[in-house]
Amino acid sequence: MSDSFPQVRLRRLRQSAALRELVREMRLCMDDVIYPLFIKVGSGIKREIMSMPGQYQLSVDQLAKEIKTIQARGVKAVLLFGIVEEKDAVGSRGYADNNVVVQAIKTIKELAPQMIVMTDVCLCDYTDHGHCGLIEGKRIANDSTLDLLAKMAVLHAKAGADVVAPSGMMDGMVVAIRAGLDREGFEQTLILSYAVKYASAMYGPFRDALESVPKFGDRKSHQMDPGNIGEALREVEFDIAEVADIVMVKPVLPYLDIMYRVKQQHAGVPLVAYQVSGEYSMIKAAADKGWINEPAVVLESLLAMKRAGANMILSYFALDLAAWL
Ligand code: PBG
Ligand code: ZN
Repeated sequence: MSDSFPQVRLRRLRQSAALRELVREMRLCMDDVIYPLFIKVGSGIKREIMSMPGQYQLSVDQLAKEIKTIQARGVKAVLLFGIVEEKDAVGSRGYADNNVVVQAIKTIKELAPQMIVMTDVCLCDYTDHGHCGLIEGKRIANDSTLDLLAKMAVLHAKAGADVVAPSGMMDGMVVAIRAGLDREGFEQTLILSYAVKYASAMYGPFRDALESVPKFGDRKSHQMDPGNIGEALREVEFDIAEVADIVMVKPVLPYLDIMYRVKQQHAGVPLVAYQVSGEYSMIKAAADKGWINEPAVVLESLLAMKRAGANMILSYFALDLAAWL
């Protein structure tokens, strides 16, 4: 039996669309897509983010208007980021009663009860200096930040969040949040840890959206160095031990190798790929110029994430995706 041409012809499998679909190994579907939403204090606000065409800052009343459409388009999970006017050094708006995120969670749970609601848990959305932790001297403090993250997570859980997602890369954030949630009786609330978050240049448009550009310094003392591989695996191991229910790699496309390795080492842990703002904006900009075919490029990119091992994809393209699939 010769395993070669001309008996073997791999093109046989590609002769028709139906056959190609039949043998396709990876598929995209709306079941595992998560849509990020930016919720702003105020009313009547639907403001397009300049560097993220098609994405908006929404006030809670506008969110109420749109959430059913979002659900009708097939989105089953959202991730909420809060945008507040009054920021201070300790990010108090982030854990203040009835803040904008709490209102958004309640609104969604009321109007679209089936929707999985995830929330970002980090201080940088709420601090006037724009950093992910408290500032002590010139450093971003770790341990004193943890109590506040736990407080924020409990607040979100109380409002009805299904999943809290700490994104600040503080050591011990998962264990602190788990303890806080369990203490308050929220042992069913899941933790999605931004386990592997690189200090990437691709978060620029997001920081515009959130008005969270650090006022000084950068995030390299907590986010990961793009040159590192082993450290990423260690981060994931730690977060799983702490006990994260779901872990994330972010950004995705430039880090598919990392995604793949994480999945190989921890096949049993649900893995999220976050296609970040810069990845979104680059595709949008090229498509706007007519240089690439937007849906085709998006679908191809998302499929790559699945091949690398992603179980879920967080993407600003979520709404369009429903139409494209
Ligand atoms: C903040 C946070 C960031 C993102 C999600 N949560 C950015 C940052 O570290 O500045 C990035 C998301 C994106 O770029 O789409 N903790
Ligand atoms: Zn942060």
